[in-house]
Amino acid sequence: MTELKRVGTHDDGDICVNFSSNPHIDDLIAARNSRRQVLGGMAALAGLFGLSACDDDDGGSATAQATVAAGSNAATTTGKAVTLSGTATGATGVLWAQESGPAVTLTNANSNTATFIAPAVASATPLVFSFSGSGANGVATSSTTTVTVSPATLGFNAVAKNLNDIVTLPEGYTMTVLYALGDPIAPGVSAYANQGTDVNFAQRAGDHHDGMYFFGLNAAGTARDDASNTRGILCVNHENITEQYLHANGALTVVGGARVDRVEVDREIEAHGVGIVEVAQNAAGAWAYNQASPYNRRITPNTPMTINGPVRGDAKVRTLYSPTGVAGRGTVNNCANGYAPWGTYLTCEENWAGYFNRAAGDNALRPAKEGQAYARYGVAGGPVAGLNWGTLALSDPTETKYRKWNASVLAGDATGDFRYEPNQYGWIVEIDPYDPASTPRKRTALGRMAHEGAWPANFVAGRPPVYYMGDDSRGEYFFKFVSATNWDPADAQCTDRLAVGDKYLDNGTLYVARFDATGQGVWLPLVFGQNGLTATNSLYPFDNQADVLIHARLAADALGATKMDRPEWAGVNPANGEVYLTLTNSNATARPLAGTDAANPRHYNDPRGPANTAQRGNPNGHIIRLRETGDTATALSFTWDIYLFGAGSDLNAANINLSALDATNDFASPDGLWFSRRSNPSGQINPLLWIQTDDGSFVDQTNNQMLLALPGRVGDGGARTITNTDAGGATRDQATFVGRAPGLNLKRFLVGPRGCEITGIDSTPDGRTIFVNIQHPGEGGSAASPTSNWPSSQTGPSTARPRSATIVITKTDGGVVGL
Ligand code: FEO
Ligand code: CA
Ligand code: CA
Repeated sequence: MTELKRVGTHDDGDICVNFSSNPHIDDLIAARNSRRQVLGGMAALAGLFGLSACDDDDGGSATAQATVAAGSNAATTTGKAVTLSGTATGATGVLWAQESGPAVTLTNANSNTATFIAPAVASATPLVFSFSGSGANGVATSSTTTVTVSPATLGFNAVAKNLNDIVTLPEGYTMTVLYALGDPIAPGVSAYANQGTDVNFAQRAGDHHDGMYFFGLNAAGTARDDASNTRGILCVNHENITEQYLHANGALTVVGGARVDRVEVDREIEAHGVGIVEVAQNAAGAWAYNQASPYNRRITPNTPMTINGPVRGDAKVRTLYSPTGVAGRGTVNNCANGYAPWGTYLTCEENWAGYFNRAAGDNALRPAKEGQAYARYGVAGGPVAGLNWGTLALSDPTETKYRKWNASVLAGDATGDFRYEPNQYGWIVEIDPYDPASTPRKRTALGRMAHEGAWPANFVAGRPPVYYMGDDSRGEYFFKFVSATNWDPADAQCTDRLAVGDKYLDNGTLYVARFDATGQGVWLPLVFGQNGLTATNSLYPFDNQADVLIHARLAADALGATKMDRPEWAGVNPANGEVYLTLTNSNATARPLAGTDAANPRHYNDPRGPANTAQRGNPNGHIIRLRETGDTATALSFTWDIYLFGAGSDLNAANINLSALDATNDFASPDGLWFSRRSNPSGQINPLLWIQTDDGSFVDQTNNQMLLALPGRVGDGGARTITNTDAGGATRDQATFVGRAPGLNLKRFLVGPRGCEITGIDSTPDGRTIFVNIQHPGEGGSAASPTSNWPSSQTGPSTARPRSATIVITKTDGGVVGL
């Protein structure tokens, strides 16, 4: 009985039992006496074998009667795979059936050995099962056993921090590589050579796997099936590239400050975007992607898009490509993600600004506010350090897919150049994974920023959908979008999915969070004409609502929102609606001693490496959480506390390691964050929280990692005042609100290979298969001397170039991962 702890040697004794191969006379008497008492399982058994349950004490002989035993009572915890092992003698057929307790699905119920997954429970809960056998005399006998299920625990031993070049998992788990950089996803495309010579990434997996979602398909692969655990479409963000491993010579070819090799530039462009790939699990349990699936698709920075919502057609998004400002090409730097319950994927454009060139002196050719706005978003004037696709000179001047990355003023008006191309990025983009011919839509009502993710509040019939979104840069903000349209669950299965997206995502109100020192907070609306968001605003003159949305950061500045320590992924507890937000880290410039506040309370030093290199500010980050007033996602106020502080376990417990982390769970720079799906026990009652790190401050001690938590609730800790210290020894006290220390409710589950970031996660609906992305292993190395050889290194020594990849994690015994 896998993962099952025996608590007794006898069953409950109220129905016939036989613990030996030779029936005891007492058992046979009991069997006869119990025949009139058999429960639902008996009727099912009779039906199955064409038998009549006999209530005649003289019917059949003792020698022809089956004897059965359901086995000992047992105890387990939520999410465990449980095996019921019955024994039957003289039976022509057997059946397991559940008699009481929260309903579970029994697998192989018509055999001696049935299995089920222990359900989510709030307290120890008995589940009673009957095991029935029918004898040659046509008489069925039955026995019961009780499995007592206790609430979820983190059912694994924490993985040790390490610097190995493999993915390390707890005992009892296995992983395989599913979808790696360069994998061909169209028929006839060659296998990835991984020597920097491959081309056509528009039909290969992109680089830097990031946010991800699994969309179910039916067994035939012909239609959407949200309940499928074995076949589906994986949407994977390809955020960026590690160019030294993409090109044969291990570097960009740059002549006179310009890109000159079109093959290189095409490879880089096409390795960005989103990958959509069909995946399935075979009968032996192995997962693979289908190279020939009609669902497979790459969305790249070249893919046509439409611009939807309030910014559609605005003068600030008009370009040579789309003089009316209703369309564009491509999505780039796709970081975290979201989804919509009508079956679409949301990809989030994060650090898009660095892809654009602008000529030195370009600001002088524009209205002053345009230069101000570009500076606020990081669209620098003059040479930039990025990939500089816009510098590639072509003999064909009509080809604009490269020069669109040059946002300089070059023509008489905006319809003759790409001066406003940067305004076409920084959005949430909705993609229909089930329709490879569909055109993705940029949802401008959700604002423009360095979008990390877009995670939905729990959808409630008759109330507006709500999305939570981080703007990932030091000192940026936390936003939420509240749709103008109340949710109609009938829309969930509509087949015109992007039209449903129009209904809910093109009109609504964008808010930004202000976290107050009281432990309360408010949502401030970004609405033109309200709270000073007008043409006379002293910070920036807003023209209209499109201007407010394109420049959501400036609007949030004007409203006095709280500047956070890099807002990354948000997640929503599926059981209670509380919202979690990772704040990856900050530095002494963005978070100086005098600049802490209650929601970003730490300024400290975390010395790194053998030289004890100073890292000041908040290099380890934290995770804040909030509870909306009235537990209603549309509320305009909330209560908050800080769930968890990143820290090495060796750091000062009074002022830095405020969550009392130890060697089993210390971490830094939380980035990816995800709650288990509520369709399985790990997402119910007390859901599992998954935390992924993107760390530079702790890499002297461990590669990046993923932790699992059972996180408690807002307010489970209390108020606390800490003392911060700066480089000169000056101190300053800061009051804040700290959640209950996690203790055994936080454990390290995974450590990645060298130089990687762990980011992107989803599961099948049953939680028994988890997909995780390993991004940029070997970052910082070179083609000649890679600092990682993963994933080749997972199975032994290798000299291969490293590849970002999606991995599949399952529990060896088939239970819910993590529990
Ligand atoms: Fe793409 Fe903020 O990580
Ligand atoms: Ca991230
Ligand atoms: Ca990151």
